[in-house]
Parts: sequence; C-alpha cells; structure tokens
Amino acid sequence: MLAGECGEYVQLAMEILTGVGDIYGAEEMTKISSAHTVMTPYRDIMDMGVEICERFAELGAKYSVPTTLDPAGMDLQRWREFKIPEAYAKKQMRIVRAQKKLGGIPVWTCTPYLHGNTPLLGQHLGWSESSAVVFANSVMGARTNRLTAVVDMAAGIAGRVPKFGLHLDENRRGEVLVRIDLKSNTLTDADYPAIGYFIGKQVADKVPVLTGIPQGVSIDQLKNMGAAAAASGSVALYHIPGVTPEAEKLGRFLKKEKSKETLELGLREMRETKEEMCTTRAGDVDFIAVGCPHYSIRELGKVAALLKGKKICEGTEFWIYTTKHVEMLAKRMGYFDIIESSGAQILTETCMLVSPTDIYGFETMMTDSGKCAHYAPALCETEVIYGSIEQCIEAAFKGFVQ
Ligand code: F3S
Repeated sequence: MLAGECGEYVQLAMEILTGVGDIYGAEEMTKISSAHTVMTPYRDIMDMGVEICERFAELGAKYSVPTTLDPAGMDLQRWREFKIPEAYAKKQMRIVRAQKKLGGIPVWTCTPYLHGNTPLLGQHLGWSESSAVVFANSVMGARTNRLTAVVDMAAGIAGRVPKFGLHLDENRRGEVLVRIDLKSNTLTDADYPAIGYFIGKQVADKVPVLTGIPQGVSIDQLKNMGAAAAASGSVALYHIPGVTPEAEKLGRFLKKEKSKETLELGLREMRETKEEMCTTRAGDVDFIAVGCPHYSIRELGKVAALLKGKKICEGTEFWIYTTKHVEMLAKRMGYFDIIESSGAQILTETCMLVSPTDIYGFETMMTDSGKCAHYAPALCETEVIYGSIEQCIEAAFKGFVQ
C-alpha cells in the first residue's frame, strides 16, 4: 500500500498514517472496523481542508471501511434562513460534494455511535471527534486514539491505523481513582457534564476509574459527561465498575496499587465546578444553545415537554442541535411542532461551535453542555452560563437569569 501498488490515494493515506506511527513509535498497523472524520465543517478546516478533501476525491479515493461524517459548518438545508454568508456556504458545499465522492456516510453528527456506526467491544477504530472517541472507548469498549483531521480520512481510506496508545491493553488501564461522593440517586442530568468537566480538569489525559455512578446511568448522561471530560481535559477513556465493559479487567488494578492517585468529588467540588463552567452568573441571555453533543430523541422529548404550550421570550434565540434522524423521529412523535411553535428552533447536521455563530453578535449564551460551556467563550465570542435544561428553558421564557 505504501509503495503505491494499491493506487496513489492509498499510498498518500499510508504515508500520513506511517508518519503518525513513526512519531508515536508504533511497531505495526492494525485494521479498523470503522472511521469517523472531522474533515467536515468549513469553519474548522478552512480552505486547506476543502482542498485536501477535493484532492482525495479527484484521485478517486474511496473509504474502504464505513466512515461517518462529523457535523457540517452549517445547517445544510436551512442555512439561508440562518443568514450564513453565501461564500461560506459555497465552500461548505464543496466539502459535502467531496465527502460524497469519497463515500462518507452523511450522518453529519458527533454521535455516530447512535447513528449506524456502533462499534463492538475490542474493535479497533480510526475516529476523531473527542466526544465520540471517549464514548467509543469507554462505553463501547472499542479502541481508538483521538485522531486529528486528515489522519481520520487517511484511516478511513486505508482501513488501518498505527497501533499505539489506546489500541494497546497497557494504555487502557485505570490510572486515577475518582470517588464521586454524591448521593447517586440524586444525580441529575445537569450533574453529569459537571462531573465530566471536573474530571477532565483534574486528570488531563489520564484514564480515570469512577466510583459512585449509579448502574442506571443513561446513555445520554454518559455521552454528556464524556464530552465535557474530553473538552476540559483530554480524557479519551474512563472506566466505571458495573457500567462500562472493561472496568472489571482494566479498572480493577487500582485496588491493588494503593499509591495511585485518588480524587474526591463531593458537593463542594460539584458546586465549584458548576461555577467555573460559567463566565457570568446572571443577567440578560440572548442565546440559548443546547444539543452538544447532538441531542438524542429522549433529550428532545424532554425539551418538548418543558416547552409545551409556552413561548420563548422575544429577543432571545433558543437553538437545539441534533441529527436528521432524530429530527425525523421528533416530527413523527409531535415534538417538532411543539418545539417550533414555542419559537425555539431545531438545527440539524451542525452545531453552535462548528458553525459561524459569532456572526450573530450574541452577548450571553446559556447552555446545558459542559463541552459547549468550555469552548463557547472563545469560539462563539459570548459570555456563558451553564445550567440544567430546566434552567435554560426558564431563561428562554424570561430572557434573563437572576
Ligand atoms: Fe458535537 Fe458540536 Fe458539541 S460537534 S460534541 S455538538 S461541539
């Protein structure tokens, strides 16, 4: 493949992958079951990224393993309604066309594991998108490093990645014990992003083992916790005994090695973390953005129930980000009409951080996402208030937080 016997585009992909492998001291390549690429939003990959996508497409490249696409840099259908500049949209559509030629699966979501790219225990993957990587490694027990843009495309084309880091057993062992000392039956949806945020800040890129998470924790809670941990730190794998599949095998050693680091997360740390997730605590709110990672149908249903029969305050935008698939379900289940008639809007295949949200001049954003709270001040150029979805909706009705 590297010698060019399988075509120029495979050779190019292998050159990229062997280059990465050399840097990290990988001894061999491993075949992968799937890839997930972030070579998708124009806002992030810019002209250079468009050209790389088109170059691969011109060479006739095709993904050799199922390769899903991360969110695009705008709602691909409603972009005119949201006043996305024409020139920006043209570049985004060039990415769409190139990815189509490559055979990318157009889910345009950061939750590919809920949308047809669902890995199994022990499978090797070539994924990027930090929130999806931590979910695949931890909840599914699959094996992927946090790839970067371009390397992820190369992985999808070659169907291989260099075998180092989280592909190897020895790097998947728990390193830091995090005791969550909160009454597990009182943990709410809004606590999980804060738990993730705390963990990411404290452990950086180590592998935490969490105790105190109830067995009834939901997929959405794990999705939102992992995304926050991967944003405030660079957590790519965690274990929860009794919940995640490798916790017994790889999390257990902590009990034997008492000298390992231990962290406590109690009420005080929880309160301080939630404070730290805000750049301001009160005042007018002109933008409420939820769905980072993309909302599931359960989360959308909860929002619909809270919005039913009510109206969003004039002067405040309430945007909910999700996938086409979830939007379709929401239409069938009546959630879509309830949400849109309240004045809130559902945007699909994009999100607040990878689209040019800064063009609207919003001043204060409120969100229920730990990942969004972390990045929004820089990427959306707004103040940020973190709160539960109930608090976000209350702010949407009033236009302010007291
Ligand atoms: Fe997904 Fe965008 Fe958040 S890609 S994880 S919704 S930043």
